[in-house]
Amino acid sequence: MFPIPLTIRGTGSYQPRRVLTSEEIDARLGWRPGSCHALYGIRSRHVADEDETSSAMAAEAAREAMEMAECTPRDLDLIIGACGVMEQPIPSTAVLVQDRLGLGRSGTPAWDVNATCLGFMKAMDLAALHIATGRAKRVLVFSSDIASVGLDWRRPDAAAIFGDARPVWLEVGFGGGEHMVHMAASYPEIGIIGCEPFINGVAMLLGKIRAAGVGNVSVHPGDARDLMDVLPPASIAKAFLNYPDPWPKARHHRRRFVTPEHLIPLARVMQPGAEFRVATDIPDYMRQTLEEVPLAGFDLVAEGPEPWQDWLSTRYEQKALREGRVPHYATFRRR
Ligand SMILES: C[S@@+](CC[C@H](N)C(=O)[O-])C[C@H]1O[C@@H](n2cnc3c(N)ncnc32)[C@H](O)[C@@H]1O
Repeated sequence: MFPIPLTIRGTGSYQPRRVLTSEEIDARLGWRPGSCHALYGIRSRHVADEDETSSAMAAEAAREAMEMAECTPRDLDLIIGACGVMEQPIPSTAVLVQDRLGLGRSGTPAWDVNATCLGFMKAMDLAALHIATGRAKRVLVFSSDIASVGLDWRRPDAAAIFGDARPVWLEVGFGGGEHMVHMAASYPEIGIIGCEPFINGVAMLLGKIRAAGVGNVSVHPGDARDLMDVLPPASIAKAFLNYPDPWPKARHHRRRFVTPEHLIPLARVMQPGAEFRVATDIPDYMRQTLEEVPLAGFDLVAEGPEPWQDWLSTRYEQKALREGRVPHYATFRRR
């Protein structure tokens, strides 16, 4: 490692004026209030207006940086742009910033580094080289990007969570996460989203993800209903409901997952032909499952005491077996 021969004399930043809250996104997409924040953990974001181009924002930030550095644009020997996305093909964003700083005819060199996420580091490196070789004393390095330009606001895509278009599976109430991590490791080509409001379960899952080294798991640390409300229709290729809370008392049966309140949203987000697996050790739960799931738009494919070939016994199943209860498995297919 070589020391970098430069001193940062000033820094500046600029955020777009317009603030878009998660509540506004809920309203725009017809989601329940609070859904967007529950899903992404973000309360608000800044969105650039038409006049807030990359170069306009960079110039504002540059003015703040120069004020801190107690210098003027005329003191700059070089301007390096390190944006991920250029404002236009030609002239470069650095030249647009040069012009906005009133240096249009100054001859101050201005050029972009096209190194995507590495751009800022590379630009700092080049600034240091120019300073070390005596070609410049003061260099302005900026990075300014408008992510919202590339967004389709009407379509929050589950696949976007994984950054590509792989099949997405869903596990409801993953408990300690052993089954979900097993699936993620067995099928690295899919992405799996797990929902679990029990925070200790989420903590256990994180340890298992690290131990297994899987990178295709995404977690919603909350109720599956909130997630299903915001998933696009027909976006889930397979779903698992392993040992859902049994709610044994008859007056509590309406709280079970296998009720229209949960099954209708589940059916909406599942692709036609997608598989839905249910495992339970409670005979009355299986009775209700076999009654209610077909009413929500699924066909029964198989049901019995034999687990699936790729099944991994869960913590709750192990407890049930120790206590003498018999597991039951059912497979449905979305019509
Ligand atoms: C009996 S445990 C089974 C856990 C795990 N699937 C297993 O087999 O070991 C049921 C789990 O479902 C979770 N759960 C209950 N209702 C849920 C819901 N609406 N959305 C997501 N998870 C839920 C509970 O927090 C609990 O951890």
